[in-house]
Amino acid sequence: MRIILLGAPGSGKGTQASIIEDKYGFSKISSGDLLRQEIEQKTNLGLKAQEAMDKGHLVSDELVGEIIKKRISSQDCKNGYVLDGFPRNISQAKYLEKMDRRRKETVLEIELEEKVLIQRLSSRRVCVECGAVFNLEGRPSKKKGICDACGGLLIQRRDDKPEVIRERLKVYQQQTKPLIEYYRDKKVYFPIDGKKTIPEVFVEISKILDKRLEEDRVTRQSP
Ligand code: AP5
Ligand code: MG
Repeated sequence: MRIILLGAPGSGKGTQASIIEDKYGFSKISSGDLLRQEIEQKTNLGLKAQEAMDKGHLVSDELVGEIIKKRISSQDCKNGYVLDGFPRNISQAKYLEKMDRRRKETVLEIELEEKVLIQRLSSRRVCVECGAVFNLEGRPSKKKGICDACGGLLIQRRDDKPEVIRERLKVYQQQTKPLIEYYRDKKVYFPIDGKKTIPEVFVEISKILDKRLEEDRVTRQSP
């Protein structure tokens, strides 16, 4: 199974991808995290990606495709994976299908109004060491500014500035939203109400995943 999480910046893709990984054992693949690792390590790819990310624009399909392909081919993805932030346009979706052809897909879009997205992004804090995600309002760390998981420092992401948030939201509408019709036509698309609490959103997601996994099991068993 390949799970694709769609949703505007701040909708909770990364948060839910981590829970899906924990509960279902599907490896989490976050294109944004992979790009930020490249930047951190000052690789050529990272240097090229940084400029686009700082502006809230998409990194080129070639660069993102390269890191995703490498990640998907690793051993831990053989039994399934959950994609957070990839694909982000039709050409990336087609690239993914070509790269890993036979896998059943489930596409979940976490829907949320813009006002709440902006609130959540402005109050998000992330750990510089392990990438764990917190929120000053909804999910504060136990000790202010310190990660519960590893004790690392919590910071605000470079692209969580108001002007970059606005650009990212615009890019989502223009370039990523067309994927919804694309996946709806393939009958693998499921909208999720993102207004609920983190555990409630996961309950919605797991209802769909359990059904899809059961369908998959039945199909495999039938002659
Ligand atoms: P990426 O890192 O993917 O950023 P994004 O899509 O803008 O999404 P975010 O990570 O900001 O939000 P999220 O949906 O993961 O929300 P989260 O769970 O953190 O990409 C960054 C950049 O990399 C892009 O702009 C682009 O430049 C580049 N890039 C990445 N992929 C690319 C691709 N495929 N092609 C080209 N370029 C690419 O939650 C947000 C906050 O809300 C947190 O504080 C969390 O604690 C809180 N929260 C979550 N759920 C809830 C809830 N239910 N209730 C209350 N609070 C909640
Ligand atoms: Mg994220």
